[in-house]
Formats: sequence, C-alpha cells, structure tokens
Amino acid sequence: MTVSSVVPHHVAIVMDGNGRWATKRFLPRLAGHKQGVDALRRCVRACIQRGVRVLTVFAFSSENWNRPADEVSGLMSLLATALGHEVPSLSKEGVQLHFVGERQGLSAKVAAGLVQAEQATAHNERLILNVCFNYGGRWDVAQAAAQLAARGEAITEASLNAAMALAHVPDPDLFIRTGGEHRISNFLLWQCAYSELFFSPSLWPDFDDAALDAALHDYASRERRFGKTSAQVQTTGASAMRA
Ligand code: IPE
Ligand code: IPE
Ligand code: MG
Repeated sequence: MTVSSVVPHHVAIVMDGNGRWATKRFLPRLAGHKQGVDALRRCVRACIQRGVRVLTVFAFSSENWNRPADEVSGLMSLLATALGHEVPSLSKEGVQLHFVGERQGLSAKVAAGLVQAEQATAHNERLILNVCFNYGGRWDVAQAAAQLAARGEAITEASLNAAMALAHVPDPDLFIRTGGEHRISNFLLWQCAYSELFFSPSLWPDFDDAALDAALHDYASRERRFGKTSAQVQTTGASAMRA
C-alpha cells in the first residue's frame, strides 16, 4: 500500500459527477448513477483494506427531489435494486449499514428495505457505512433541535450533537467531494466543522483506488490544529488534540 500511516478514522464523500460521466459518453444520466453504485462498492472495499473505520456517503440530497421526475424515480429504483444486490456481500465483508436521512417521502417498500438492511448488518464491525439518502445538513440540525424541543430539553452543543443523525460515529476526519465542484451542497454542515476538505477532479464513477489514495495521501500531510497553535500541536500530537 502506498499511502502514509496516518489513516483517517472517518471519511465522508460527496459522490458527485455521475451525470457528467454519462453525458460525456452520450448515455442517459441514470447509466452514470448505475456506475456510481459500482464505484461505491469498490470504494468500500478499498477503505476496509486501508483501515478506514467509518465511511459516510452522500447518495441523494433533500434538494435532489427537484431533478426531473424520471431521474428521481430512477434513483429510487436504483436504491431498491442495490439493496437487493449489495447487502449480502457487504455484510460478508463486515460492513454495518446505516441509512441516514428523512424516511418520509420514500416508498413504504424502500423504507422497509432500509430497516431490513440495517438489521441484517447490525452485528458487523469492520466498517460502518452511512448512506445519506434524502439527507440535508440543514434537515439534520432542524430535526435534532425539534427532538430536543419535543422532549423539553435544553439546546446545547452536546445535546444537539447527541440528537444528530450521525451521533453513532465521531465527526469525519476527511471530507472528499468528487466531480470537481468546490462546495458542500448541504452535506454534513454540523459534523464537518473540523474535517479536512479534499476536492477530487475525478467524476464519481471514475473514482478508483488511486484517486482515494491521492486523497488519503494529502490528508496524511495536513496539520490538524483544532484552534490551537502549530507549536502546541507538535508538542502534544494531533491525535491528543481531538480527545
Ligand atoms: C451525484 O451525481 C449523484 C446525485 C446527486 C444523485 P450527479 O447526478 O449530481 O452528477 P453531475 O453533477 O450532474 O455530473
Ligand atoms: C450533491 O451533489 C448531492 C449528492 C452527491 C447526493 P449535487 O450535484 O446535487 O450538488 P450541486 O447541485 O451541484 O450543488
Ligand atoms: Mg452533481
């Protein structure tokens, strides 16, 4: 393996560029989304091999409902198909699946499939895979605040954090966006406060092991300061800074 020994515990990825990948080949956009599923399967495997423990991917945003109806319904069918095809092999590889996002708006069949996949993989411990589907960073903050309000609890950083949809994992260390755009597009707004950002020019279906290694290699060269000075970090060590 070519990457440095500093492997991020949690990697988050905005899997962008499927449509452009397809359009470049005179294919319908959905063909790009299908390739995107293959790219995700490869990426999960590569992350396991490299020692990443949590992978969080953005598959469908709250705003993606505004796309043409045939693309939206194609993406819903693709999720249903991928659930059927991918879950058994992911489970065999030790992947614990979580679907993160609003369930309302999904068909009853898809919603039931998500619960089933989560239950079937709950015992796995090699890699936690969070698939953010019908997810938005603003939705997440609002739903967490609504939970606290409903319970009459005080809103603090800690109580909000515990009510967020990704409360079961630490914040992402490395935030990757493929497809060349330099924006967050309403992904993990709360959780990426101190994530290292990496923008890959690869379109998501082309995001291979070498592209992942480029991101991991760049991450390994970063100095994470969490508000402190460089001298402080070098004395105490970056990992101690997170604790
Ligand atoms: C990302 O690829 C997948 C989804 C948003 C569902 P896009 O579909 O946004 O691809 P581009 O950005 O149009 O190339
Ligand atoms: C972000 O990509 C959402 C996902 C990858 C699921 P978009 O393609 O929707 O983002 P914008 O519209 O370019 O900002
Ligand atoms: Mg896009």
